[in-house]
Amino acid sequence: MQCTPEAVNGRQPARIHEIKMCFASVFRYNRSRSSSLMDLPRKLSTVYSRSRQGASEPFRRRLPRILVVDDNPNTMSLMQDLLASRGYDVAAVPDAAQAEAEILRHAPDLVLSDVVMPGKSGYELCRELKENPATRLVPFVLITGLSEREDRVRGIEAGADDFLNKPIFPEELFARVKSLLKLKEFTDELETAESVLCTLGLSVESRDPYTEGHCERLAENASNLGRHLHLDEEEIIALRRGGYLHDLGKIAVPDEILKKGANLTAEEWQVMKRHPLTGENICRPLRSLRLVLPIIRNHHEHFNGSGYPDGLQGPDIPVLARILQVVDVYDALRTARPYKPALSHDQAAITMREEGRSGLWDEELVAEFFQMLEKQRQVA
Ligand SMILES: [Fe+2]
Repeated sequence: MQCTPEAVNGRQPARIHEIKMCFASVFRYNRSRSSSLMDLPRKLSTVYSRSRQGASEPFRRRLPRILVVDDNPNTMSLMQDLLASRGYDVAAVPDAAQAEAEILRHAPDLVLSDVVMPGKSGYELCRELKENPATRLVPFVLITGLSEREDRVRGIEAGADDFLNKPIFPEELFARVKSLLKLKEFTDELETAESVLCTLGLSVESRDPYTEGHCERLAENASNLGRHLHLDEEEIIALRRGGYLHDLGKIAVPDEILKKGANLTAEEWQVMKRHPLTGENICRPLRSLRLVLPIIRNHHEHFNGSGYPDGLQGPDIPVLARILQVVDVYDALRTARPYKPALSHDQAAITMREEGRSGLWDEELVAEFFQMLEKQRQVA
């Protein structure tokens, strides 16, 4: 999932309506009692389960779209007819190149693909779709006349979700399609929930005009730094989401404190310092955000243990939180605020290295970050 407003805009109208309802609820909570935010995850799940009750939806759900890829015209038209008879929206193409064009034109909910085809094989098509973040959650079924175990292993290695043997038996086809479409429906709902939370993160940012674009820049720089450090794909995705979600808990911080900036009173500071825990509580119900939770909770820890909320030290601070923190500090230094001017890149580098030496930040990560920026500058 791309954690951006566009990701939300591309959803079904019914979901967009529900997302707007969520926003209304959150702002209502925020005006009344911030502790009510603890109810937000339950509220969201209620909203989603309600949106699944087709009859009460203000908009009808679209038909699931299935893409059939097979160079044999008989098999292709048989599958097309069978699936259309069950009410699915079916597209059929004879090779992988046309499948890719069709997927770009109209993303399917399920792909049924032959293995042996002219041009790219079904294995290659499957691998490419599973490596692409935009299509990796689309279930992929390999249809094969091959029954050797090693052919199945190749399919599993390519990321196939299931297999169908030729000749096709209609009841087996319908059963597989039904269960995989159900799986896709669940992952779509999960993505929608994540999109709502990411958009809420952006809404926090929008309450402060001086932080415009902050989440976007953090998501970009943190995921780039993760890539630069050769982290795995899951961690890089978590860093991207962390860019949008790290300050989500500020939704429970009143405007008069959030916009005050410097010179908070001791009581106001205590309210502000709750935001990592509030954000973690909001996101905890989503298992898919498990790698993001430590980023949200620990992005204000200091390397010498003087940070909050847990006072962790050095390597005890989760590395993804330390990465996001380095990127966050750089962005804060480079941005003008009512109480301070923006620093130049060089001034920010000097400040961060000094603060790293004094025990605030992970010095190694600070060095890696500026090395990465230097590489980017040379390439540009
Ligand atoms: Fe924060």
